[in-house]
Amino acid sequence: MLPIKIRENIYWIGVNDYKTDLFEGLWPISQEGVSYNSYLIDDQKKAIIDLANESSANTILDQISQIIEPSELDYIILNHIEPDHSGALRTLLLYAQKAEILATQRGQQMLEAFYGLGSRVRVVQDGEILSLGKTNLQFVSTPNVHWPETMMTYALEEKILFSCDAFGGYGALHGAIYDDDYEDLSFYKREALRYYVNIVATFSRPVLRAIEKLAGIPVELIAPSHGLVWKHPEEIISLYSQWARLAFEPAEKGITLLYGSMYGNTVRMMNAVAQGISREGVPLNLFNVTETHVSYILPSLWTQRGVVIGAPTYEGALFPPMAYTLEMAAVKHITGKPVARFGSYGWKSGGAEKHFEELIAPLNWELVDSFDFNGGPNHDDLLRGVEFGASFARRIKNR
Ligand code: FEO
Repeated sequence: MLPIKIRENIYWIGVNDYKTDLFEGLWPISQEGVSYNSYLIDDQKKAIIDLANESSANTILDQISQIIEPSELDYIILNHIEPDHSGALRTLLLYAQKAEILATQRGQQMLEAFYGLGSRVRVVQDGEILSLGKTNLQFVSTPNVHWPETMMTYALEEKILFSCDAFGGYGALHGAIYDDDYEDLSFYKREALRYYVNIVATFSRPVLRAIEKLAGIPVELIAPSHGLVWKHPEEIISLYSQWARLAFEPAEKGITLLYGSMYGNTVRMMNAVAQGISREGVPLNLFNVTETHVSYILPSLWTQRGVVIGAPTYEGALFPPMAYTLEMAAVKHITGKPVARFGSYGWKSGGAEKHFEELIAPLNWELVDSFDFNGGPNHDDLLRGVEFGASFARRIKNR
């Protein structure tokens, strides 16, 4: 995309990345893409806020060059040092030789660790104001949203909050940058939730702290470093608050049913269990853990109250793709869920259950019901499965 003027002297100059398959080496984005939004301020002093990953360095240089010469840059402001925003730094510095890098104290340490550039950094303090001429920028420390060094930058006169990861989402920009450029925001909201749960959810308390800290600041535009620029900041702030609160408050009255099956026996039972849940009118999200990347499963686990796990015993333990999904739920601190479990076994019952209990211990999930069946489910087994699903759904409804 070409640079987009967002105010008289402020430009969006981001990069749409459709080349990276796995964000952070973990989370699939090859279909959705991701944007690295940078912002250029062309005032008496010239500044750029956040960059892009290393492989996008030439694109960033081209974008800057359409507005000013990169050598004119006075400041490179890095709100956050994760390499999706700082990877282009070394290349940019070859052209922006007089530019001063501004970051927090922790940011300086990280720039030394990642790039050996600590000595090029001027450390800025929480609340410090930098005058560029007509534009004054204030730095707001927001640690752990997403890494410990993170800050945001606020344009005082224009009331623009450059929030970096916060209020961002996956999803490349489809030719326009603003929320109100799109009639239907469902893609961006879905991808903001997936991004939130994949990347930010572990840091939900710092997110709420940051939102509280920002409450007194008038914001007309939220300009994150991923995804849409929000002309209606209240919308994305409200979504982020709601998602962050789910770390501490009960989730929606719905059920995530995760299943995996070797030969279809657990799938037959899963259909019976789903029938019981649906009979009670409780919303149900179904995922085959063998077919669906955990990135797409975690948002449902985060937002829905109950979990049902259907997976066979595999060599005396829980079916490995299910075990991995639960381990990732633990990594992302998706805690405190009521859970019910079922599965098929071939020759010896008990291994999957024991392994499952070990896996949910760090999650603090409450196992409320569990059963195994031998081989394929018979008619009585399936009737039991329907009642098992219905009973768990009633529990979720009435909790
Ligand atoms: Fe977009 Fe935490 O980096």
